[in-house]
Amino acid sequence: MCGITGFVGKNSIRNTMIGIKSLEYRGYDSAGIAFINNKKVEVLKEEGKIENLEKFINYDLDSLISIAHTRWATHGAANKINAHPHSAGKITLVHNGIIENYKELKNKYKDYKYKSETDTEVIAVLMNELYSEYKDMLKTLNKAIEILKGSYALAIINSDYPDTLYAIRKDSPLIVGVKDSDTMLASDVPAILHFTNKYYLLDNYDIVKVDSKGVRFYNDNKEITKRINIYDNSSDITSKNGYDHYMLKEINEEPSVFRNTLKEYINNNKIVNMFDISKYDEIEIVACGSAYHAGCLGKHYIEEYANIKTNVYYASEYRYTKHFYNSNILVIVISQSGETADTLAALKMANDNNVDTLGIVNVYKSSIAREAKHVIYTKAGIEISVATTKAYMAQSLTLLLLALNVKQDSSIIKELFKIPSILTKYINRTYKKIAKVIAKYNHIFYLGREIDYYLALEGSLKLKEISYIHSEAYPAGELKHGTISLMDTNTLVISVVTDDKIKEKTISNLKEVMARDTKVLSITNTSGDFYDYKVDIIENDSLTPFIVMIPMQLIAYEVARIKGYDIDKPRNLAKSVTVE
Ligand code: AGP
Repeated sequence: MCGITGFVGKNSIRNTMIGIKSLEYRGYDSAGIAFINNKKVEVLKEEGKIENLEKFINYDLDSLISIAHTRWATHGAANKINAHPHSAGKITLVHNGIIENYKELKNKYKDYKYKSETDTEVIAVLMNELYSEYKDMLKTLNKAIEILKGSYALAIINSDYPDTLYAIRKDSPLIVGVKDSDTMLASDVPAILHFTNKYYLLDNYDIVKVDSKGVRFYNDNKEITKRINIYDNSSDITSKNGYDHYMLKEINEEPSVFRNTLKEYINNNKIVNMFDISKYDEIEIVACGSAYHAGCLGKHYIEEYANIKTNVYYASEYRYTKHFYNSNILVIVISQSGETADTLAALKMANDNNVDTLGIVNVYKSSIAREAKHVIYTKAGIEISVATTKAYMAQSLTLLLLALNVKQDSSIIKELFKIPSILTKYINRTYKKIAKVIAKYNHIFYLGREIDYYLALEGSLKLKEISYIHSEAYPAGELKHGTISLMDTNTLVISVVTDDKIKEKTISNLKEVMARDTKVLSITNTSGDFYDYKVDIIENDSLTPFIVMIPMQLIAYEVARIKGYDIDKPRNLAKSVTVE
């Protein structure tokens, strides 16, 4: 996924760049800006992070129009040539998305001297060709919408109209912030909050025209009016509030996220305002990455408390498995960003088969939120760090409440209110010592059984995505069927052992591992001789998984600090993967 911004008005370059910096979590392989200077379009772009580009920007230049981009490479290497903006003739543009028919278009205009390997440059060539024919930007954009296949959010400058900015979107998010006579385009809300909290959401095929007279919207060749949205807690999201990293800030927000979620859905010790799943015979949960791991916890809770058969699928695999859809099935898609292409594709497949769909999403009116038949917004607030923490916890809690809405087990519901203060207790512990042990290893296995395995999946992903240590989660019982051959002094096992009902077997597996000179760290509420290192969990009940999330996240964070990597923007990653 990439980030795009655009600005029409005073201090355009400064506003565009502040915005693009707050979108860097979406992708940071390269960055670029285009702006009008003396009625001419100028373009600057650099490989690597935005700070590399900033060295060449004159913030005092009084330019009224600019567009900027931060890239997560899809077509073409992460280098300066492939960095956006891309130009062709009179057209200069930045793009978030994937053009699926770019090869066909590139071939259609094969005489053009392409400079980059990107699909985006092909859009610029197409638009320049169409404009040469129509000499009218709205006709050009409407025709481009007919021709382009795939996903795109585009901010476009035509050198014939140096006081006008255009934009179109399809399947990639784009919003339009407004304040007085100034206007800002952005991929996401964080980018505009330094400027305004009033914004319009674009729908598919909306065309935007912005000039000194303000902003106009068009769709299907007609001018349209759109409803304004107000973002209501613009206070601290674009700052780290004194923490060294957004990830640490967001972990520290988890107690309040937990509390806010309870406030929304519990009244008089009963679950309220919650989607009712009781009428369904079967549930399919579909997601990617950490959202998938939350889905695994959801399976456990829904089967346990709502007694409904539940299966969990990786979204990228979901479309290739046979589904026996019927009106008694509910498909739940989980996505923090609400823009993950694999998850959106799975959701569309479920919708096309006329089954009920429920989106559990963290970003208001995101593509998945708008595509799903029903939606529950998690109360995590905007999450900036690429490695999700508070959103994953909010997803897991929402799934638990979805299940308890059927069972209404008042004893568990009452216990939920104790969790936030317990989370704070574990946040205030230090994990630096154990992180030093872990940081020495290059191969780590996270082991657990059933719900402890679902937690191990997330612990392993957190560790590897920010510390770059090879780690894999494995069902503890499965290890002895081959993979135990990898156990030696160069390997470390981190185990999650909290569930009384099944821990004895896991303990046996860990002793098998120790018998092969492999060190074991256990995150556990049990004492014994099945570990060399221990992270002590005091609690021992059905809500303990929420407690375990904190040490797992902070251990990963402390290891990454020791390694010295960019914790909030790990290499090769982006906050949301809007390509399949
Ligand atoms: C989590 O730390 C990762 N950044 C990644 O696995 C993420 O959970 C996955 O890409 C799904 O994103 P989504 O929740 O926005 O759909």
